[in-house]
Amino acid sequence: MASLSGTSDLHDAAVSKALYVETYGCQMNLADSEVIVGALASEGYRCVEEPEQADVILLNTCSIRDHAEQRVAQRVRQLIALRRDNRRVRIGLAGCVAQHRREKLLETIPGLDFVVGPDGYRRLGQLLAADEPVADVQLDRRETYEDIAPARGEGVRAWLTIMRGCNRFCTFCVVPYVRGRERSIATDVLIADLRRVAEQGYKEVTLLGQTVNAYRSGDVDFAGLLRLCNEVEGIERVRYTSPHPADMNERTIAAMGECAKVAPYIHLPVQSGSDAVLEAMDRGHTVAEYRDLVARLREAVPDLALSTDVIVGYPGETERDFEATSALMEEMAYDHAFLFKYSPREGTRAYGTPDTVSEEEKGARLERLIAEQEERALGINQRLVGTETEVLVESTAKRQPDWLAGKNPQFKTVVFEPSGARLGELARVRIEAASSHTLRGREKQ
Ligand code: SAH
Ligand code: SF4
Ligand code: F3S
Repeated sequence: MASLSGTSDLHDAAVSKALYVETYGCQMNLADSEVIVGALASEGYRCVEEPEQADVILLNTCSIRDHAEQRVAQRVRQLIALRRDNRRVRIGLAGCVAQHRREKLLETIPGLDFVVGPDGYRRLGQLLAADEPVADVQLDRRETYEDIAPARGEGVRAWLTIMRGCNRFCTFCVVPYVRGRERSIATDVLIADLRRVAEQGYKEVTLLGQTVNAYRSGDVDFAGLLRLCNEVEGIERVRYTSPHPADMNERTIAAMGECAKVAPYIHLPVQSGSDAVLEAMDRGHTVAEYRDLVARLREAVPDLALSTDVIVGYPGETERDFEATSALMEEMAYDHAFLFKYSPREGTRAYGTPDTVSEEEKGARLERLIAEQEERALGINQRLVGTETEVLVESTAKRQPDWLAGKNPQFKTVVFEPSGARLGELARVRIEAASSHTLRGREKQ
C-alpha cells in the first residue's frame, strides 16, 4: 500500500477540500492515483497525509487475488468505523475491486459513499457532489485520460501509463474484466508528457501497461516508442512493465540493445515452467518459446537482469509440472521473482475449475520456490561483489542516514557510502557486499 501526497497548490487552502488517497496493487494503480489526484485538483481538492484530515477518503484498490480484496474490505470498514459523525467525510473505493464488485459494494459495506471503476475518474467530482451513495462502474473503450495531467509524487522516478486494459484473458486473471479492453495513448501526448516530466526534474521513467509491449498508436509500436523516449533530454533511464512474452518481438529486443537509456532489465512473467499449465492458462506461448526469447534478450543485452511472476497450484498442476517450474527458474537464473499461490477469481475463465492442489500443498510449493529463489538471488548478487555499478540516487539509506540508496541499471537496490553524490544524481559505486535483495558499496571518488 502506498499513500499519495502529490499536492496541488493551485487553490487557496481556505476553499480547497482535503483528499486522502491510499493505493493498493500494481504500478498502474499508483499511476491512476496520480490521475485521480490530478483530476480532483482542478476541482479544488488537495492531498492530505492522514485520513483524519480528509473530507474525502479514497482507496484505489486491487482485486488480483482474493487476499488483496479482503485487505481492502477490512481497511475501508475500519475507516468507516473511525469516521466521526460531526463531519461529512465521504469514503469510497476506486480501481479494480470497485469494478469487480460494482454497486454490490454499496450494499455489502454499509457507510460506503461511492464506488468508481478505472474508467470513471473523469466524473469523480460529480460523484463526490452526490447526496447519496453512488457508483460509476462503466468501462469505456476509449478512456485514456490523455488530457488529465497526473499529480506526480516527489522523487526521481515518474510513471507514464502508455496503454490501458488487456485483451489477453489469461484464464486465471481478473484484469481484462476490471480494466477493460486494450487501448494505447497517442505517441505525441506521451512524448510531450515525458518532456514535461524531464523538465520537472525526474530522471527515470517507467512506461506502464498490463501488456505494455502491445503498445501501438498509428505507426508507432512499442519498439518505436522506446526509441523516442530514449531521445528525450534530461531523462537518464527508461524502464517498462509488464511486457507479455507473446507480444515480444525482434524490434523491441533490438531497441533494448541499442538504446543507451533503456535499462538492461526486464520483468517477464512466465507463470509456469510446464507447457501443460501454460496451455491451460492460455498464455499464448510455450516454455521453449520463452526460453528462446530470453536467450535472444540476453544476447542483445549482455548485462540484462531478469525477473518474473510465477503462480503455483493452478488447477491441474501436478508434482511434475511444479518441478518443471522450479527447474526453469533455475535455468533462467532470475534475479528476482514474484511468487503467488493461485487464487480463484470470480468471473474468470478458470473460475469453477476444481482446485486440484490443496491449500497446504500450494503453501509448500510456494515456500520451496521462495527458498530456491532467495538462494539463487544471493548467488547472483554475490558474484557482483568487486564490480562497479551506476546508481541513480533516490533517498538516504533507511538504516544509515549518512549513506545513500538507489537503483542500479538492473533495478537492484544499492546502498552506499557517498563521497559527493547527491539525490537525483548518478553515482559510480563499487560493490563490496551483497544479500539476496540489496547490494552495498562505496562511491568511487
Ligand atoms: N499483465 C501482467 C500481469 C499482471 S498481474 C502479465 O501478464 O504479465 C501480476 C501477476 O499476478 C501475474 O503475472 C500473475 O503471476 C499474478 N496473478 C494474476 N492473477 C492471479 C490469480 N488469480 N492468482 C494468483 N496470482 C495471480
Ligand atoms: Fe492478466 Fe494475462 Fe492480461 Fe497479464 S496478460 S493482465 S495475466 S490477462
Ligand atoms: Fe491489481 Fe488492478 Fe493492478 S487488479 S494488479 S490493481 S490492474
